[in-house]
Amino acid sequence: MTDPRLADLLASVPDLRLKTDAGDLEHYGRDWTRRWNPAPLAIALPGTVEEVQGIVRWANRHKVAIVPSGGRTGLSGGAVAANGELVLSLERMNKVLDFNRVDRTLTVQAGMPLEAVHNAATEHGLVYPVDFAARGSCSIGGNIATNAGGIRVIRYGNTREWIAGLTVVTGSGEVLQLNRALVKNSSGYDFRQLMIGSEGTLGIVVEAILRLTDPPPPTNVMLLALPSFEVLMEVFNEFRGRLRLEAFEFFTDRALRHVLAHGAQKPLEDEYPFYVVTEFASNDEATEAAAMAAFEHCMEQGWVADGVISQSEAQAQQIWRLREGITEAVARYKPYKNDVSVRISAMPAFLQETQALLGEAYPHFEVVWFGHIGDGNLHINVLKPDDSSDADFVTQCEHVTRLLAQALVKHGGSISAEHGIGLVKKPYLASTRSEAEIALMRGVKQVFDPNGILNPGKLFDA
Ligand code: FAD
Ligand code: MLT
Ligand code: ZN
Repeated sequence: MTDPRLADLLASVPDLRLKTDAGDLEHYGRDWTRRWNPAPLAIALPGTVEEVQGIVRWANRHKVAIVPSGGRTGLSGGAVAANGELVLSLERMNKVLDFNRVDRTLTVQAGMPLEAVHNAATEHGLVYPVDFAARGSCSIGGNIATNAGGIRVIRYGNTREWIAGLTVVTGSGEVLQLNRALVKNSSGYDFRQLMIGSEGTLGIVVEAILRLTDPPPPTNVMLLALPSFEVLMEVFNEFRGRLRLEAFEFFTDRALRHVLAHGAQKPLEDEYPFYVVTEFASNDEATEAAAMAAFEHCMEQGWVADGVISQSEAQAQQIWRLREGITEAVARYKPYKNDVSVRISAMPAFLQETQALLGEAYPHFEVVWFGHIGDGNLHINVLKPDDSSDADFVTQCEHVTRLLAQALVKHGGSISAEHGIGLVKKPYLASTRSEAEIALMRGVKQVFDPNGILNPGKLFDA
């Protein structure tokens, strides 16, 4: 270890685990975007809050940037370290610290994988309801830093709703205990909420107090085949009106083709252009009848052409795989990902405009649509053709994203619904946030991170 800065780091934080092998720098320096070449200075794997504090103080002395790092499943480049940063991986801080039955809270270290959080809640007969396909590898700290959404937002909301308290280390190395699991706390600015979704630019989340809730009632999962995009919101309104929805997700025939090629089972005899996966409470004859009534009404109206309802847990999982398997199935095409949202009421007009826009703009690329339509959140993935260079492909996609950003301004939407801004969406932040807001964000960053050492260049430039 020849770098004198790293020698000083080890002198300041004596038991710190540090990795500098080329393979580790590569592994920890990138996220799921795979667009930037990793080039971190080193990887620090602290085991305690005090070690995190020591690292931050060291970084301030040497003016070394820190990239907080969870599971690196992020889709916006937030955890990328491509400029000599120190990656601060929370992966060793992955334990349950406390369960409080009265408060119904679980206190965990930030590096705990989401699925481990689910399992820990289940052990106590409760659930942590934020959920999505990266559950096995993303961390709760990363979920908090991106305000992650997922497949159950329609019923439970985003990560933001489930955070009762946070312990963070700020950019100047102070440890803050935010909200301490209080249900009511009208004592000024809520820094806990400010930290949620701040993408590692204001503080390093080291511990979180998570709210838990009762398990949902028994549910059923239905796959619906739709003849056109235009009827999507009609079907949503019909099902939402009659049932307690736990999820309402959509994808196109192209998405289905990729998932089937990736090993999923064909769900219906015929092919259709659009599909919905919906999960709803189904615990008695009345709810089962309501589901059938919604389905039959949609069939009569011509909004649904075919469908299947799960008869077992295994079949429910098979149906879910069709939706949840899309990200992995298209990953080999290095997709350019749009993750946009509008108010649910604005969705029909936005869908119509976006469909026309992308049809014209991308005649040569395969575009795969899917998303959390019940939350007004669309994922539009443009697949890179094998014969196109990464740089050319991204340039062409960015041109189209500028047009999409204009449509979002018109419809009052957001350029990032749930993945965060990171590096990928940074050029388009102004389509969603006003100049005055971005100036205030810079001011806030200055307060929490005066030397600009926490994830600089992500979200906005200083
Ligand atoms: P990372 O990628 O490691 O980091 C993400 C950001 O958080 C970075 O800016 C990083 O610096 C910061 N960060 C990480 N840990 C901390 C910390 N302890 N303190 C401060 N900052 C920190 N996202 C959704 O919202 N909904 C989905 O449905 C969804 N599905 C996905 C499915 C797949 C298959 C994949 C690969 C990704 C999916 N994602 C989804 C995206 C991703 O999983 C989420 O953004 C997740 O919250 C990132 O967690 P992570 O631990 O991997 O964070
Ligand atoms: C999803 O909804 O599947 C995730 O947000 C991942 C993605 O957009 O690829
Ligand atoms: Zn999503």
